[in-house]
Amino acid sequence: MNAAVLSYSLTQPVSRFLGSPKELLIDGEWVPAASGKTFPVYDPATGRVSAEVAEGDREDIGRAVKAARRAFESGPWPALRPAERGKIIWRIGDAILEHLDELAELESLDNGKPVSVAKAADVPLAADMFHYMAGWATKRHGITIPLSILYTPGVRYHAYTVPEPVGVVGQIIPWNFPLLMAAWKLAPALAMGCTVVLKVAEETPLSALRLGELLIEIGLPKGVVNIVTGFGETAGAALAAHPGVDKVAFTGSTEVGRLIVRAAANDLKKVSLELGGKSPNIILKDADLDVAIPGAASAIFFNHGQCCCAGSRLYAEEPVFDRVVEGVAEAAKKIKLGPGLDPKTEMGPMVSEIQRNRVCGYLESGLAEGARAVTGGSARAGAGYFVEPTVLVDTQAGMKVVQEEIFGPVVTAMPFEALDDRLIERANDTIYGLAAGVWTRDLSKAHTLAARLKSGTVWVNCYNVFDAALPFGGYKQSGWGREMGEAVLEHYTETKAVTIRL
Ligand code: NAI
Ligand code: MG
Repeated sequence: MNAAVLSYSLTQPVSRFLGSPKELLIDGEWVPAASGKTFPVYDPATGRVSAEVAEGDREDIGRAVKAARRAFESGPWPALRPAERGKIIWRIGDAILEHLDELAELESLDNGKPVSVAKAADVPLAADMFHYMAGWATKRHGITIPLSILYTPGVRYHAYTVPEPVGVVGQIIPWNFPLLMAAWKLAPALAMGCTVVLKVAEETPLSALRLGELLIEIGLPKGVVNIVTGFGETAGAALAAHPGVDKVAFTGSTEVGRLIVRAAANDLKKVSLELGGKSPNIILKDADLDVAIPGAASAIFFNHGQCCCAGSRLYAEEPVFDRVVEGVAEAAKKIKLGPGLDPKTEMGPMVSEIQRNRVCGYLESGLAEGARAVTGGSARAGAGYFVEPTVLVDTQAGMKVVQEEIFGPVVTAMPFEALDDRLIERANDTIYGLAAGVWTRDLSKAHTLAARLKSGTVWVNCYNVFDAALPFGGYKQSGWGREMGEAVLEHYTETKAVTIRL
């Protein structure tokens, strides 16, 4: 495989991009970190360094927040006519599509995902988010409210609401869909007239930095989007705690979500969180198994299981359990593992050595507790952070592999007797509540489960269907608030109520 990796040459635009210094975008300029420090980012398919990136820290966050504050208080962006703002946001979507191949290649190099997947999903979905949110710039409006209050007879009031941008927003994003997560965060904030400091994941900063170049080319006013690369414990923590930030939006682990809430508590800044999951995927015996089996395989193996909504707990009704397990295991065996930049690759490496080791730790714990791997079960020897797609059976509800988010290509398959309270209890027996899947031909069963599963998303006879218009987010410890759709606009606006005595 190493030979294969070496035979890849990056395309010219990507080589050009990698050849220039990777600095911080602050106030419309590319600048080094105040400390002068840089850190390496790795190609997960080989473990080799692909770029050196500025290591932003507290001081850089301070500079970026100051620029965002200036852009918000006295820059043109929040005051721009909504249609003008919408046009610029639309152009960002267009620019992403114009650079689709280049962005997909960068994403694959940085994250490890197959370039074909980045081309078909990550990059076009990121463009969609900007195109969709561009429209909200002109469509978010207040209402008039008839008042009943009577202080003084004869006095009447006229009352209305105005949605105003919340201000300077700190956004912290993970590495599993680097460009798409940047789009989910930036697009609604920009549509509402906010200014932003974006802290990208240390594992995968490249596509956001390229997006930063495109934002400058498009003519986004300076200071509206500032991008800081650096580590979570330093740059991320400084952003969450910065008193000049009005709102923090975070996507990542539930553990760090708690730290964000604590950091934001000092000055009670607004917080939205999109955190982990351990989503149940339920196949009833009447389901069309020709659809449900590949659907269940893709629910867990898409993006190598590095999805917050991965269908990681598979429940199949007893009469079809063996066929489902066999089918998902067959699908797993057929997946072609390899470097993301190989066009034939269907599953790439884990994003990092740490993530590979974390997933392997779960595999070892599951097997030690009595689970059995029908297929997979370990990392692949050699260069790169590859883990075999794995189907575990003989798992019990209390096991770590059933309770905790693995964030890797590992599904636990468990049989159930019937659609009854016991099944629903098992499906909901998790601290998370992000997504759930249901496979059935019975409409009544589909609706029953859709109503009783405690999760922000329920997919019926499908999985991982995302649309910029559909709200996405979690019940329980999967988060606070919703991303996408009209619902996300709430995070980026304050509602002002104006009452006028007539
Ligand atoms: P993480 O939650 O540590 O990292 C996500 C982002 O938060 C990164 O930008 C990171 O720099 C930043 N961050 C880390 N510590 C911070 C802090 N103290 N203050 C502010 N920002 C901070 O996730 P990590 O370590 O990369 O992965 C660990 C586990 O988290 C994964 O195995 C997976 O279970 C889960 N995860 C969930 C994601 C989701 O989409 N819900 C995405 C990434 C990870
Ligand atoms: Mg972490």
